[in-house]
Amino acid sequence: MRTAEIRQKFLSFFESKGHQIVNSSPLVPGNDPTIMFTVAGMVQFKDVFLGNERRNYSRAVTSQKCLRAGGKHNDLENVGYTARHHTFFEMLGNFSFGDYFKRDALHYAWEFLTSPAWLGLPQEKLMVTVYATDDEAFEIWNKEVGIPSERIVRIGDNKGAPYASDNFWTMGDTGPCGPCTEIFYDHGPDVAGGPPGSPDEDGDRYVEIWNNVFMQFNRDESGTLHPLPKPSVDTGMGLERLSAVLQHVHTNYETDLFVDLLQATARETGVPYNQETPSLKVIADHIRACTFLIADGVLPSNEGRGYVLRRIVRRAVRHGYKLGQKGLFFHKLVPDLARLMGEAYPDLLEGQAFIMAALKTEEEQFARTLDNGMALLEKSLEGGKRRLEGKTAFALHSTYGFPVDLTADICREREVELDMAGYERELAEEQARGRAAGTFGAVTQVEYNGDDTTFDGYEHSEAEARVLALYKDGVAVDSLQAGDAGMVVLDNTAFYAEGGGQIGDSGQLCGASARFEVSDTRKVKSAVFGHVGTLASGTLKLGDAVSARIDSGKRLATARNHSATHLLHAALRQILGTHVQQKGSLVNHERTRFDFAHNQAVTAEEIVRIEALVNQQIVANHPVGASIMKQDEALQAGAMALFGEKYGDEVRVLKMGEFSTELCGGTHVQRTGDIGFFKIVAEGGVAAGIRRVEALTGEGALAHVQHMEQEIRAATHLVQAQPGDLVGKLEKLHAEQKALEKELAKLRGKLAASAGNSLQEQAVEVNGIKVLAATVEGADNNALREMVDKLKDKLGRAAIVLASVGDGKVALVAGVTADLTGTVKAGELVNFVAQQVGGKGGGRPDMAMAGGTNPAGLPAALAAVAGWVGAK
Ligand code: ALA
Repeated sequence: MRTAEIRQKFLSFFESKGHQIVNSSPLVPGNDPTIMFTVAGMVQFKDVFLGNERRNYSRAVTSQKCLRAGGKHNDLENVGYTARHHTFFEMLGNFSFGDYFKRDALHYAWEFLTSPAWLGLPQEKLMVTVYATDDEAFEIWNKEVGIPSERIVRIGDNKGAPYASDNFWTMGDTGPCGPCTEIFYDHGPDVAGGPPGSPDEDGDRYVEIWNNVFMQFNRDESGTLHPLPKPSVDTGMGLERLSAVLQHVHTNYETDLFVDLLQATARETGVPYNQETPSLKVIADHIRACTFLIADGVLPSNEGRGYVLRRIVRRAVRHGYKLGQKGLFFHKLVPDLARLMGEAYPDLLEGQAFIMAALKTEEEQFARTLDNGMALLEKSLEGGKRRLEGKTAFALHSTYGFPVDLTADICREREVELDMAGYERELAEEQARGRAAGTFGAVTQVEYNGDDTTFDGYEHSEAEARVLALYKDGVAVDSLQAGDAGMVVLDNTAFYAEGGGQIGDSGQLCGASARFEVSDTRKVKSAVFGHVGTLASGTLKLGDAVSARIDSGKRLATARNHSATHLLHAALRQILGTHVQQKGSLVNHERTRFDFAHNQAVTAEEIVRIEALVNQQIVANHPVGASIMKQDEALQAGAMALFGEKYGDEVRVLKMGEFSTELCGGTHVQRTGDIGFFKIVAEGGVAAGIRRVEALTGEGALAHVQHMEQEIRAATHLVQAQPGDLVGKLEKLHAEQKALEKELAKLRGKLAASAGNSLQEQAVEVNGIKVLAATVEGADNNALREMVDKLKDKLGRAAIVLASVGDGKVALVAGVTADLTGTVKAGELVNFVAQQVGGKGGGRPDMAMAGGTNPAGLPAALAAVAGWVGAK
């Protein structure tokens, strides 16, 4: 059974059990700082499990793209060494949000796996584990499903802490969690490995294929478990592992998904195709991770997600190098992958060219240091050393761009110990140096368990509200006093909280006696708004009634910039191409800053076209309208979703005529004409493959143009150009300047020649050496150097110092003929003089330069030169 068919069967099975089929979410979780990547199917439902978000279904089924690298769930180290680990993989999952629980979940799982109508796996090939104290799950498996008790293994807290267990699943350090039961498939006695719970359980014989988690708790930062509002179910089955089982092969790399990819990898690295070559497997795994990450908007960088991607690319490239491929190869695998997976993930086909270009740039960058890094590594292991020092690992990291896990990978291959503690020490020192030089931003996180805030600010600039919570220094208080800085949570507000790139509103909260000046509005939770600011007068208490009034002028200016950003986004896609994807934005009342994926600078001519298109849309005065739609429908209707944003089941779709449709919760103008005028003021690169455009609207744009015009007027006046002929005049001046410079150089040459002749006469002879120390009026360094060169030719065996004085400074050039440099060095000579005129210098033995600040000392210093040479 091909992988595509298995994926479809799973979705159909759970659909037949009343589950809503939901699309995979991106690999980058929206608005969730607690994890880097989507590590499981449940990630997109986290808020639903926690009770913070409601959907109009209580059962869901997905095939989810996942990435487990760099974080709590990290399989990077295992890739290539086992039959079953990947960085990128697809997880099949069914979910119950307070609907069914253990019994149904286990019956569904068993039916899907063993029923001849579905997968029909032989029951005797399956065994299960349960959390040690979970008698209920044990009983259901044993009594109801009929699995003999010797094939049910209880696993306790086997990872060194309470609830740290293979059978207690947690999303991250915090978040939804609960006991779980795992289903294993026995690949048979000819594969090495023991059953779960046995000492050799890590072998590939018994492979966990499906995990059913009974979501019951939310783990907080302190590790305390709080019961969830409703017991729920979260399951995950690795599609690649299931394919291996159903295709009767023992490793994921032998499945239909991988065989073609491994062959492509062999082709590009120039080695024979062989299932047993770990490097081929690593590269095949990594091209999937890297391609999907870039398709989902991540690009290589030195921090966060971008750094994980960079590490994966570099590991892959190093494995290619190990196979003998020293040229660029990795990006060439993208079309193969797009062909294999493009049907299920059309983004890969659409983004193919961009993904290849981004990977190629990254490969080229690493190729520049890989060879030298490998040389350093080989050298430090010379003589059969069995340990790589931390200092070397750190040098490899900081100078040659070897992420430490890459170095560890090499050490592991060669059975060399890596001094990780030493590396960490070096790194910590470097970070301490960085910290001393940098700054840290504080995160405001507060405890809040009250009601949500109703946002009433799309149509209104003022709302009547009641104070639900007050915070001072992040701690809940009953009241704020005049002068206190703090945060106010209201039941109702007109203030927009920062989100979707738009800054939070500012304004005032006015109570009977109190006035709170709001400088920013932030979300405390997805629907709880915190008004940040200072109490200007009176006392503000819990329960007080306030009028929440936004600063309307600022809001309108922000709205103009936000609406213009949507027009800009659509215009960029029209003019530069649909690979343009939003990568970040910042919209405030002054400007809009928009980052997007694009591999080269936007040309001046393109900018002119983009500005023209946006301004056309402004003049067209399209109505701007928002409607609430189901996410799927909105995306199908062509709405653009923004990178890194989390969208609920229902989304707000913002439309500007037919020109732009985006998912957006921000505040906007009523008609595009309200924007007035749009002007791009800056364009530049922010990272590999990412450009940034900054633009102004309305009065800000007008002021910018007026300012530029003023500058042009001033310049026209300064160079005495006719109005309208500034460029013509500048060209003329430029040509004149060039001619004058040429003339000047000629004259200088002449001057040097004639000065040289008269200077020659001034040389005195000391011990058979011609010594010349003189001042030349009005010569600059270049002229002095030319003169010294000419004099050397004329005088033969000579030591020369020439000086000139201008602006209270002394310039010195010394020259010594080649036959003399053994005894007299130009550098020493020039310094002998320079010291006496308050300066210092240096250079080659035959030519050196210096400067000084005390011209008064010059005559005596020059007079002393002959004596100094004589003493040599
Ligand atoms: N979330 C569970 C896992 O990833 C199902 O194993």
